[in-house]
Amino acid sequence: MERTILVVDDETDMLTLLKRSLGHDLKAHVITASSGEEALKIYSEKHFDLVLADIKMPGISGMELLELIKKNNSYQTVVMMTAFGSIDTAVEAMKRGAYDFITKPFDHDALVLRLEKALERSSLLAENHRLQKACKGINAFHHIIGKSASMQRLYETIQMVAKTDMTVLITGESGTGKDLTARAIHALSDRRQGPWVAVNCPTVPENILESELFGYKKGAFTHATTNKTGLFQEASGGSIFLDEIGDISPSIQTKLLRVLQEKEIKPLGDTRSVQVDVRIISSTNQNLKKKIKLGEFRDDFYYRLNVLPIELPPLRHRKEDIPLLADHLLKKHCHDLKKPSVKISQELMEIFMQKTWKGNVRELENVIIRGLLFCTSDKITLKDVGANTSAKSKPLPNHISRTELPYKNAKEEILRQFNEEYIGYLLTQSNGNITHAAKMCGLERQALQQIMRRFEIKAAPFRS
Ligand SMILES: Nc1ncnc2c1ncn2[C@@H]1O[C@H](COP(=O)(O)OP(=O)(O)OP(=O)(O)O)[C@@H](O)[C@H]1O
Ligand SMILES: [Mg+2]
Repeated sequence: MERTILVVDDETDMLTLLKRSLGHDLKAHVITASSGEEALKIYSEKHFDLVLADIKMPGISGMELLELIKKNNSYQTVVMMTAFGSIDTAVEAMKRGAYDFITKPFDHDALVLRLEKALERSSLLAENHRLQKACKGINAFHHIIGKSASMQRLYETIQMVAKTDMTVLITGESGTGKDLTARAIHALSDRRQGPWVAVNCPTVPENILESELFGYKKGAFTHATTNKTGLFQEASGGSIFLDEIGDISPSIQTKLLRVLQEKEIKPLGDTRSVQVDVRIISSTNQNLKKKIKLGEFRDDFYYRLNVLPIELPPLRHRKEDIPLLADHLLKKHCHDLKKPSVKISQELMEIFMQKTWKGNVRELENVIIRGLLFCTSDKITLKDVGANTSAKSKPLPNHISRTELPYKNAKEEILRQFNEEYIGYLLTQSNGNITHAAKMCGLERQALQQIMRRFEIKAAPFRS
């Protein structure tokens, strides 16, 4: 790109001379202003790699101009010149942020050389700025934190996927950031001004899910006293996020398949279909291919969902992100809990780096919240998060039974602990046999398997 220079001087002869000679010798585009006022106007509309200004001018003086420019952009390279140069004015100009100072009359070649140096500084600064910006994009992206190679690939994928309207399936263990990823896709897409509708599939009872998604006509069933718009219609022009899609029943899968194929929905009790303009993003922490083999998930539905797959890496595979994430979460919750800022002790950070983090970032977040609540100094220590100091090498107990956590996190943690202990006991007794374990606790085999998948409990380690 051509370099641009703004030359400011009240002597028009000087301007004409500099415009021609600098334009030629520095291979730059030179714009001139015959007063400080005019220079400010031009400067406010255009970027300049260099400003060369005379000090002595009527109206806004060169010194004032320098000050105003520096206030606006402290990185701007400015070179001052004057016929009345004295050491004092030179020092004063440098103090106010000028990069160099040139006394008139000047030797033209010397001037070119010094301005070339000034332009070099500008290009270095610009490059540095560009790199910094790029690095920022690497450490964090739309509320997603991480600088590991796998996260950088994720950022690229999100940007690419956001440009299209295709269906996305986000997979990954619990707490890896599926929700954050889905939101980032919407926020970067052309639909960002449209609605964002998130449906947590397993929390909606199966018999209600259908009417929630597709809506119903008055009289469709006993309690349908009015028409109800479904979530798909509500999301029109925007995106719908079907969270934990692995848990939906085959009958709803069939109905959703139709939406994916035809882009239309049929409210319950309605004879007509309605066209919907919605981008579908879904997520699951389950292995859908396995579910297909077990006959629990329709393969045709899977292929329609999985047009653009995004797989999120577990935290243990990107340990280099742990300090960055810990720092981010610490700042976030210090702020939310209105606590003064604290740090994580070295010992605790070492344990963070060793731990397998089954619950991924969510688990790390819970441990940090707990640490913040119990910490009494400016550092969170092992004791604050409930780890035994004498057993440093032991991983942190996956044991957070406190109700001080936010409700959602506390509930999830307790459910996890309960299931791990309860089902672990059953599997120990049944020697890893799921059918026996299910009989022992009065659950259907499939129901127990579903819970095991949700909490990632494997039967194999219990088999001797
Ligand atoms: N890369 C990340 N950077 C910052 N915060 C993250 C990151 N990944 C996850 N989190 C935080 O961890 C928590 C869990 O993330 P999120 O809900 O997106 O995960 P998920 O994969 O949808 O989990 P689940 O399977 O449990 O629903 C959230 O509080 C989220 O803000
Ligand atoms: Mg989620």
